[in-house]
Formats: sequence, structure tokens, C-alpha cells
Amino acid sequence: MCGIIGIVSDAPVADRLVESLKRLEYRGYDSAGIATLEGGRMDRRRAEGKLRNLEALLLGQPLKGRIGIGHTRWATHGRPSVANAHPHATTQVAVVHNGIIENFRELREELGGTGCNFESETDTEVVAHLVSRELREGRTPADAVAATLPKLKGAFALAFLFDGDEDLMIGARRGSPLAVGYGDGEMFLGSDAIALAPFTDRIAYLDDGDWAVLHHDRADIRNAANRPVRREIQKTAATSLMIEKGNHRHFMAKEIHEQPTVVAQTLGHYLDMANETVHLPGDVTIDFARLERISIAACGTAYYAGLIAKYWFERYARLPVEIDVASEFRYREAPLGDNGLTIVISQSGETADTLASLRYARDEDQSVLAVVNVATSTIARESDAVMPTLAGPEIGVASTKAFTCQLATLCAIAVAAGRARGTVSAEEERALVGALTEVPRLMNEALGLSDEIETLARTFAKTRDVLYLGRGTSYPLALEGALKLKEISYIHAEGYAAGELKHGPIALIDENMPVVVIAPHDAVFDKTMSNMQEVAARGGRIVLITDASGAKQAALPTEATLVMPDMHPAITPLVYALPIQLLAYHTAVHMGTDVDQPRNLAKSVTVE
Ligand code: F6R
Repeated sequence: MCGIIGIVSDAPVADRLVESLKRLEYRGYDSAGIATLEGGRMDRRRAEGKLRNLEALLLGQPLKGRIGIGHTRWATHGRPSVANAHPHATTQVAVVHNGIIENFRELREELGGTGCNFESETDTEVVAHLVSRELREGRTPADAVAATLPKLKGAFALAFLFDGDEDLMIGARRGSPLAVGYGDGEMFLGSDAIALAPFTDRIAYLDDGDWAVLHHDRADIRNAANRPVRREIQKTAATSLMIEKGNHRHFMAKEIHEQPTVVAQTLGHYLDMANETVHLPGDVTIDFARLERISIAACGTAYYAGLIAKYWFERYARLPVEIDVASEFRYREAPLGDNGLTIVISQSGETADTLASLRYARDEDQSVLAVVNVATSTIARESDAVMPTLAGPEIGVASTKAFTCQLATLCAIAVAAGRARGTVSAEEERALVGALTEVPRLMNEALGLSDEIETLARTFAKTRDVLYLGRGTSYPLALEGALKLKEISYIHAEGYAAGELKHGPIALIDENMPVVVIAPHDAVFDKTMSNMQEVAARGGRIVLITDASGAKQAALPTEATLVMPDMHPAITPLVYALPIQLLAYHTAVHMGTDVDQPRNLAKSVTVE
């Protein structure tokens, strides 16, 4: 949530700040702004809404400074407006911020008493005033920041620019991510590696509590105890190419179509395809045989991936699994008991609630395994073991390829756990690995349904509500289908376990509401068909997603039947995810919404 960039250089920085903000826009797009120093004097430009508004403003009123900070905002405190847009500034200092200053009201009151005038409704502005007050008392910029940081409660990544000093920038992090980039005679601060590509591929991630003083040729980093520290400079693989749309109209379309490739990559990391066995990386040393239980915490789409994994762990490893959304898990004070494993799942690896759940689990003496897409993220760094999903950067705000890569990884873990516990035989492991190996091919076939789904989406674009039904692992997929549709098309949608229909939601069925039934021909197919009959008997509009045998046996008139290839029942969620995603995508395109940057959302939710 919110993206930060800072550049200390000897060449003008405004264009590069904006270029970087484009790559960070997935973190928020309520407003954007930059500040630079020109002839030592600070100047800033800010605009409400998408980055193009800031670009237009800069065209008429350019900034020429060679040091600057930039920000793209996801509003938390204060509505999207120019006054609330970052950078926030006094005459001495400008600041950009990602996170939430929880005690900003007290600080604001205190500062108000000393005559400070506030221009915005944000929590961030107090930080600029606090640093200014320290500067007025004669402290150096570094000392002023050092004196301010301990006064702040909450989570933050901050970047400061100081009037009068063209070779000084200060960054600080607690909770929210921040990286230092090392260039050729220039230095950078950024929310992530993507912000800094293609400026540099040499990056050091600040640890929690670190703060860094940057000059054009170096960074002096200190930890929370204010001691000088070194943070390893890593070579990052992020390139700006990874974040281009190619021939696709939207990132979401590109990412949906990338799934056969990235899922194959991910599976290749965890499967020994030649020997048809699961092969977890050497540093994953979890003793599955000794485990007594698994708890899973995640948010949104990642939570639905966890819900599907619960079926796999229970079925294949015979392990009890408790799963909760991370925002509940972190505060429930659940007793987690001995010999427990907590799995946290996150694309970004920075989601505040998931990170807090991880920390809670550690305090409860659980081993923590992270399934993350950003391998350098805080969640990855704080976990005992990491199993990366090799989806590559996911830019579309609605998660697609990260979800299926999470599923591929979690399925491999479940099979490995089953093997270690003796609940999956060598023969069954071979069958499951064989089935997983087929996923990329089957995904390619499923993508072939895109045109048919596009036609169907025209009618979806005219509806107000949609219901999704499924049983077994298709139930979480129904939840995911509903989430995908509502977040990018703004059509109200609900997912239900098909068996729950008659316990309430059946009252909604009428001739106007499409009901998407996800029903591969598996062990619970007949049960789902009975529920589908109940919908048909009440005049509901049915869209059935099944395979050829399912379509044959359904024997019911449907508005549309999407016929999927035949596959092993274990892998259906991975492949059936694709028509679900395509349906949401095409519906949103027909409705003309902003598919990659839907309203009110941000990609990386670093506030709770
Ligand atoms: C939905 C979506 C969100 C994320 C959720 C967790 O399409 O993208 O629901 O899944 O915010 O984010 P991560 O996985 O980064 O922890």
C-alpha cells in the first residue's frame, strides 16, 4: 500500500521518479506526487487520482532537481485529494510514507500546541512537523530523524528530503518494506526491487527498525538501536521487462495467460518429474512425521489457496488443519499446541495481518513455513522455511498467477507430508506427481475457452448479482470466483458451498441471477448436481463448469456449459481457476472498469 521512490543523483530525477511510480502504481493510485531540490530549494508537484494526472501537471510545471522523492498513495487517513497527497512538507523537510502512524492524533495535538499548521488530514504530516521541530532546535537532519523515529507508533517506510542539502536523503523502515539501491554514482530508496529496476540491480533490504542516510555515493545504515550495521547487497533479478504487458491489453490478461509457464516453473522447483516424486528444497527441514497439526493464515485470494490446501493436507497427510483469515487469526489468541506447523501464504510477503499472524505463531512455538511470491519479503525473511512460488512479479491488482502457483506449491507440500507420514504410498505419490505434471498442458487447454467465456461475459456484464457454488476443493474456488468478479467488475457476487444453498441463499434464486456451478466429475459431483437441480427448479440461470462426462451426466438445460479437459481430481482447483479468472476478466472488460487497478484496492496491503 503506497509506493515510495527516492533518487540522489547528479542528473535530473523527475522523469525517473515518475517512471518508477508507474511501476509502483499497483500499490495504490489515489494520488501521486514528487518533490525535488533545485538550487537547494525544495519544490513539489502533487495530483489527485492516477499518475497520468501528475504527468500532465509536470508537463506544464516541470521539476528539474537532481535529488527527489516520489509517492503513489492508497488512502488510509484522509480522502484522495491534492492536499492529502504526498510528499508532505514544511519549509525544511519533505517526507513520503507507506504505512500508518497510529499515534498521529496525539502527536498532532502536541504539535498544534506549538503553533504548527496542518494542511492535510493525513497521519503522515506529523512526521514532517516533528522532524522540523528537531531541526529548529539545532539538530542535524540525521539527528532530527533519529530523535523523531522513536516517537512514532505503527508501521512505516519513510523517505525524507531536506531543504538546502542536495546530497542527502534519509530512509527509515518499521513494518513496511524499504530497500536501498546502489547505482553508479547515484543512490536510490524504493518500496521494492521493481521500483528500482531498471536503475540498478544491486539492492540491500533494510531490516525492521533500520534507517539509512544516503549520499550520491554511499548509504550509512543504522539499526533500531542506532548502531551502524551492514545489510547484504543482493543482485536482484527484477527487470523492467517483467512488468510490461507484452501483446496483452491488461496485466491481468497477461498474467492469466502466463499460468501454464509459471506453474510449470514452480512445479519444476518442487517435483522430481523423472522419478515422479516430490522433492522439497534442502532448507525445508520440517519433520512432517512428528507434526500433530497445521494452522494456516492468509488473506483474500491467498486465504482461498490455503482453504484448498486444507482439503489436500487432510486427505493426503491425514493432518488436522485449522485455517483462518489472518486478520482474525492474529487476535484470536488461539492455543496452537505442541508440534504444530503454521503456514502463511502471501503473494507480496508484506501483508500486515499475515505478517502479524506469523509473529503470533512464532510466539506460540510453531514452526513457520512461508509460501510467498516475493522471496526477499519480510514474511520470507521472518519464517523458518520458505517455499517460493515462482510466478514472477504480479502487477494486476487481482491475483491470478500467484494463486495457481500457491496451489501448485501447497499441493507439493501436502504430498511430501503424506509421504513422510506414510499416508501416501509410493504409487499414490507417482500418480499425484504425474497429475501435477499435466497441469500446464491442461491450463493451456482451459485457456482455449477464452472466446466462449468472452461471449458469456456479455450477459454477465448486465447482471447485478452472481452466485458461485462448489463442493470439496471447488468450494474455495467458488469463493475465489466471487471475489475475482466483485473486485474487478464491481458486480456483487457470493461463493457458497453447494450444500449450503438450501440453508438460506436459495431464496435469492430467480431468473435474473446467474449461478456458476463449479463441478468437475469427481467424488462429490452427484451431490453438486442435486444442488444444481434445486437452482434449475427455481428458474435460476445456470453456468456449469465441468468436464465431458460431467456435461453428459448433468442432463439439465444450462445457460452455458464450459467443458474442461478430463483430469485427476486432485488438480482440478489449479485448472478450473482459469475459466473463473477469465469470466471475471472478460466481464470487467465489457463493463469498462479499470481491470488492473480496480477502485479502492491496492496490491500490497501493508496496513491492518
Ligand atoms: C485478490 C487479491 C487479494 C490478495 C490479498 C493478500 O485478488 O489479490 O485478496 O490475495 O490482499 O495479499 P498477499 O497474497 O500479498 O498477502
